[in-house]
Amino acid sequence: MEKSILLVDDEAGIRKVLGISLRDMGFHVVTAENGQEALRIFKKVCPSIVLTDIKMPEMDGIELLRRIKEHDPETEVIMITGHGDMDLAIKSVKYEATDFVTKPINDDILVIALQRAQERIAIRRQLNEYTHNLEQLVREKTQKLLEAERLAAVGQTVTDLSHAIKNIAGGLKGGTFVLEKGIELSHRQYLMQGWEMIKGNVDKITNLSLDLLNYAKGTEPKYQLADPNQPAREVVHLMAPLAKEQGIDMSADLGRGLEKISFDPELIHRCLLNLVTNAVDACKSEDPGNQKKKITIRSRNQLNWGVEYQVVDNGSGMSNAIKKKIFQRFFSTKGSAGTGIGLMATKKIIDAHQGVIMVKSDENVGTEFIIRIPRGLKIED
Ligand SMILES: Nc1ncnc2c1ncn2[C@@H]1O[C@H](COP(=O)(O)OP(=O)(O)OP(=O)(O)O)[C@@H](O)[C@H]1O
Ligand SMILES: [Mg+2]
Repeated sequence: MEKSILLVDDEAGIRKVLGISLRDMGFHVVTAENGQEALRIFKKVCPSIVLTDIKMPEMDGIELLRRIKEHDPETEVIMITGHGDMDLAIKSVKYEATDFVTKPINDDILVIALQRAQERIAIRRQLNEYTHNLEQLVREKTQKLLEAERLAAVGQTVTDLSHAIKNIAGGLKGGTFVLEKGIELSHRQYLMQGWEMIKGNVDKITNLSLDLLNYAKGTEPKYQLADPNQPAREVVHLMAPLAKEQGIDMSADLGRGLEKISFDPELIHRCLLNLVTNAVDACKSEDPGNQKKKITIRSRNQLNWGVEYQVVDNGSGMSNAIKKKIFQRFFSTKGSAGTGIGLMATKKIIDAHQGVIMVKSDENVGTEFIIRIPRGLKIED
């Protein structure tokens, strides 16, 4: 309590006289006549200063001091000592008494002792406030810093995304131009060419938005017990004709009688589609080797895992420097033909399944992606 003082003395006269002096000095005074009572009142009132006689029957001043400091080390305790109590006075300093005044008490000396105690209280309060403000300041600055970082990341994403969309828009515009020329000149080849360009870019924007959607949703898989070959079969079915058009052999090597696993077939379909699309791109790019381009999709039961998929191609392969970056969002070596979202989204889906994705690749030799999906918890149904 503000400016409150607990006065402890076994002599009623001293309590009375000192009580008056202290009240005159502006203190709110509570008194106790022995150590036990003092402790009880102390715990109830929590005064910031205690003024106690050092010699009292039963619990003496030193013991009271010790107990008070135990309870609240920041309490200022001033000891009242008799003339011959030097030893006790020294002992009390050891227990961190603030000061001692000798009987009979001279008011001026008491005032000085009390002022000193109050100064100590004020300094401690300032220090506490300062520390508190400092902590607050550090908290605020850290928050601002984190916010700035987050905004910078959002800004970068928006920039990259705009770039990807601009590329697609460019493709669509080009297609429209060729298509219009075809209409103008009634030129069937232009018409076909323009149409293909538009179709390709419509696919691209569809895929981009699907991947982004998956990415933003946090990709919580909808688990169901299903045949792991199902998405692999669908992807081969979807992509084989396109690969053939490019002169690429696509084959499926799917394990027979694979056990069903608990996974999200639709999301795994997207992953395999991304890998196969990349493999087709890698086989399309011109490289000196003129061997027949091949892509294989494999599925196997794997010890300790539910299923392992492999997508293997003998296309362009990757340098080590590229390999390190392929899972970063918007990393692409395909210029306007790629957005660099495919593998990032794929990895996110695999992570959500608590699976792993690995890559082996050599430049001008080919690439092998491996995906492992755990059996899942809901296998008993
Ligand atoms: N099978 C592969 N062979 C060679 N390089 C590959 C292969 N798969 C991925 N890459 C490299 O990884 C990069 C990132 O692939 P990712 O699928 O994330 O993006 P992208 O294919 O460029 O664009 P998109 O978002 O349209 O898929 C590719 O640009 C390519 O350089
Ligand atoms: Mg891709």
